[in-house]
Parts: sequence; structure tokens; C-alpha cells
Amino acid sequence: MTNQEITDKINRLKKEKNAIILAHYYTRPEVQDAADYLGDSLGLSQEAGKTNADIIVFCGVHFMAETASIISPNKKVLIPALGAGCSLAESITGYELREWKKANPDGIIVSYVNTTAEVKAWTDVCCTSANALQVVESLPKDKKILFVPDKNLGAWIQRKTGRQMELWNGDCCVHERITTAMILEKSHAYPEADVLIHPESNCSHDDAVLNLPQAFLYSTAGMIKHVASSTKKQFIIATEIETIHKLRQDNPDKEFIPIHPATICGQMKKVTLESVLAALEKEQYEVKVPEEIRQKAWIPIERMLQIR
Ligand code: 13P
Ligand code: SF4
Repeated sequence: MTNQEITDKINRLKKEKNAIILAHYYTRPEVQDAADYLGDSLGLSQEAGKTNADIIVFCGVHFMAETASIISPNKKVLIPALGAGCSLAESITGYELREWKKANPDGIIVSYVNTTAEVKAWTDVCCTSANALQVVESLPKDKKILFVPDKNLGAWIQRKTGRQMELWNGDCCVHERITTAMILEKSHAYPEADVLIHPESNCSHDDAVLNLPQAFLYSTAGMIKHVASSTKKQFIIATEIETIHKLRQDNPDKEFIPIHPATICGQMKKVTLESVLAALEKEQYEVKVPEEIRQKAWIPIERMLQIR
């Protein structure tokens, strides 16, 4: 079957079953094109809460589908690739977080949304890369913040807010590869280009990068908005490479330079168009969180969604 034939079948099944397809910007181009809503982690969570569909096919990694299921427990949330994980979500368990909290009883726990439901259940407030600054700034100034699990995003927030923070030692195996040397080398080669950097990147809290006048730190959706409103013609994209698919579609007159060809999230690529069709046909693989954990995990997500 061609991609078009698969997409036609997907569209028919979507109507029949009142289903919606949500996809992250890091999925394969043909999966992005089949989606009803394409977004970053925050946008996808918001959309999961708004939709009237009975079935959500979540094209992304496991923690994202789990978050959608926590937000919309009465909907059937399906993940097309059951084994799609995330190095950040795997870097801390609920038990480890509980022990950390015990050692720091006065700390407020801020968890990046890239965590398991079990970790969220022990969290005070969640954040994504799009709202992390607002979330941290909304917390009482005299309180220490325990930030999990991304050390790079945490260090960037710490620099921007000057807050007292302790950081868990986790990282995204894709963004951790994006170094200051790469940013400086590409900026030198393309002096007219803006450099758009995801705060999960290894270099996100380095002076040499933050002092570059053409460097901007954004979540994935933030990058899309920056390019749409900019008069510049060239952009260096320092995040997962597939983000460029949407940027090129929306801005055919602009040039996008990937920071490095290896900034690929293999987990996101496990979602194929064929697996999306199979998910709809067989209603597989359902992601459901035990109700006791779901109720606890919902509290920090709801707090986050109220902040922005
Ligand atoms: P955003 O979707 O918040 O940009 O985060 C990127 C990411 O790595 C998601 O897994
Ligand atoms: Fe996880 Fe990084 Fe892949 Fe996002 S890009 S899903 S943070 S491994």
C-alpha cells in the first residue's frame, strides 16, 4: 500500500470510530501529515483535554500517551508503537523520587512532563519546556525546588530565574548531543541565521551560547512560532531533526539548517503510518493508568495546565 492508501484507510476509520490522531513534531513526516493535531508536549496535553473524540491515537512516546490518559481517563488512548520509550522518563522511578523528597522535606518537586505516571504521583507541579519558566516563577520564592529529571532544562531555568534548585541527573539522549562547539561552529558558518535551541540541549545553560545575540531558546512549538513571525531567511535548528518537516511546509521561502544529522529520536520513529492504521483497526495498544495513581498524577498536571 502507498502512504496515500494507508492515510485514506486511516481517515475512514477515524470517522467510523470517532477517533483523533495527535502527533508530536518528532514523529516521521508521513505520520505528522496524517495527524489531526501536531504539537509539542504542552500543546498535545492541552489537546488531549479538549477533544470530544472517543479514541485518541497518540503518535509519540509512552509517557505522552500516559499523560493523555491521565488527563482524559474516559477516552481510549492508543499508542501505535508499544515499545516507544524516553531516556528522560526512564532516568527516575517513583521510589527514587520519594527517597529524594524524604531527604529534602521542604523542597517543592517540579517534574518535567517527560516522566512516568508513578513519578507524577509524587510531584507537586509538572511543567513542559514551553512553560517551565512560568511554572517555576509561580512558586513561593523562599522554597527550594527539586527539579526532575532533565539536568539541562533545570540548569537553564536556574540561570534564568536565579532560584534555589537541585537538579536530578537525567538527560535526553538526543538533545544531550547538542554541544556549545556545534552551536558556535554552525553560527560561524551561517552568520545571518537565527539559532533556535531546545533547552534540553547540553549547551542550553552555557554563557558562550546564551550570549550569542542570534541564539533563542524554545520548546518545539516556540521554534515554529519564532520562524513564522521572523523576517530572517535562515535558521539553524538545534533540536530533533524532524521539526524541520513542519518548518519547511509552513515556510517554503526560508532555509533550515539542522545542527547535526544525528539529532534523531529513534523512539519517536518507532511510530510508522502502518502502525497507526493497525492501532485504529485493532484498537491497540491501550495505555491506561491504575486509578489510584492516576488521581494523584492528575493533580500536578492540572496545576500546570492552570498556570498556562
Ligand atoms: P517539547 O515537546 O516540550 O518541545 O519537548 C521536546 C521533547 O523532547 C519531547 O519529548
Ligand atoms: Fe525523550 Fe529525548 Fe526522545 Fe523527547 S527526544 S522522547 S526527551 S529521548
